[in-house]
Amino acid sequence: MDTHRFALLGFGNVGQAFARLLMAKSDELLTQLDLNWQVVGIMTGHHGVAINPTGINLESALAMIAAGDSLDPLSAEPAPQNGTDFIRACNADVLFENTPVSYHDGQPAIEHISTALSAGMHAITANKGPVVHAYRELTKLAQAHKRKFFFESAVMDGAPVFSLWRETLPAAELQSFRGVLNSTTNLILTLMEQGKTFEDAVAYTQSIGIAETDPSGDIEGWDAAIKVAALVTVLMGTNLQPSDVERKGVESLRSKDIQSASADGKRWKLICEAERTDTGIATSVRPELLDPTDPLYNVMGTSSAVTFYSDALGPLTVTESDPGPHTTAYGLLADFINSVR
Ligand SMILES: NC(=O)c1ccc[n+]([C@@H]2O[C@H](COP(=O)([O-])OP(=O)(O)OC[C@H]3O[C@@H](n4cnc5c(N)ncnc54)[C@H](OP(=O)(O)O)[C@@H]3O)[C@@H](O)[C@H]2O)c1
Repeated sequence: MDTHRFALLGFGNVGQAFARLLMAKSDELLTQLDLNWQVVGIMTGHHGVAINPTGINLESALAMIAAGDSLDPLSAEPAPQNGTDFIRACNADVLFENTPVSYHDGQPAIEHISTALSAGMHAITANKGPVVHAYRELTKLAQAHKRKFFFESAVMDGAPVFSLWRETLPAAELQSFRGVLNSTTNLILTLMEQGKTFEDAVAYTQSIGIAETDPSGDIEGWDAAIKVAALVTVLMGTNLQPSDVERKGVESLRSKDIQSASADGKRWKLICEAERTDTGIATSVRPELLDPTDPLYNVMGTSSAVTFYSDALGPLTVTESDPGPHTTAYGLLADFINSVR
């Protein structure tokens, strides 16, 4: 049996959750799927790099990061200068790219993924940037090298959205979708309904590791807009940039707005929508006041949901309750298994 060699580029909330999941699922992967793995490289931005062709001890790597230490002592090779040098030096079979998202150009993740695919590696990411900015190019590159470029965790963490359409809905055309796709703002609105101020609610989302590195991306609707762009680009066949999405975030909502909606039995939600029209695809992200009959009214906390409207089925809703880095990690694992089986 072959051992699949993994390179982890980015070892933050998601990379670390993935390392823990790999260790927890190791026996199942081996006994049920005949899959053996080994991590041969880990790169961070400010916490060092480790490359070891005989395998890196993940317990040690996690303990070192938890202590705020550098991973450098785990390395058997000199530290590479940047992500692309790291990928080439690792000689891995699969790259897991989990660096922070760049909304405006998807870099350096696009370069990382393209380097990995060109070197004959599968490339798997939770990073939305490469999906919206280079989905078609990277997919073509993957096909040319008979490898996979998968990104299930880029939208709704580990819940099946992209693979749902790729694997289980052949010849169905997506006509529109409507959802709550940003966990951070949904939790902020839920906490404000429970009495927290906007500032305290934002600080809490950062403390539990669900807000992006820069929380303004969530609050101003950019994270939601990039998810709309990713879904439209991949599932509706039209390249769409986040800046093309009509966008308004939750920054102007204050406790009094939430409380007065609540007194009327209503709730503010940050709603993401896309719909085919005669002239193209209309998209938006904006706060909407929902009444209790709306299917998204009860999507609370960090939960998210999307309803797909197609020419094949009635409305089809995927709901993910209480996601976190551990569910994002599952999406990466599912992508790996789907890449190699
Ligand atoms: N958190 C979630 O549940 C979630 C859900 C869905 C998708 N995502 C996506 O997953 C990705 C990772 O999220 P995260 O929450 O794990 O972020 P994070 O905690 O900020 O971790 C980012 C990691 O990337 C490293 N890094 C930054 N720049 C780098 C560079 N140029 N080269 C190499 N490593 C670099 C960081 O190292 P240092 O810390 O040393 O700087 C850190 O290890 C993002 O694209 C995010 O949008 C996250």
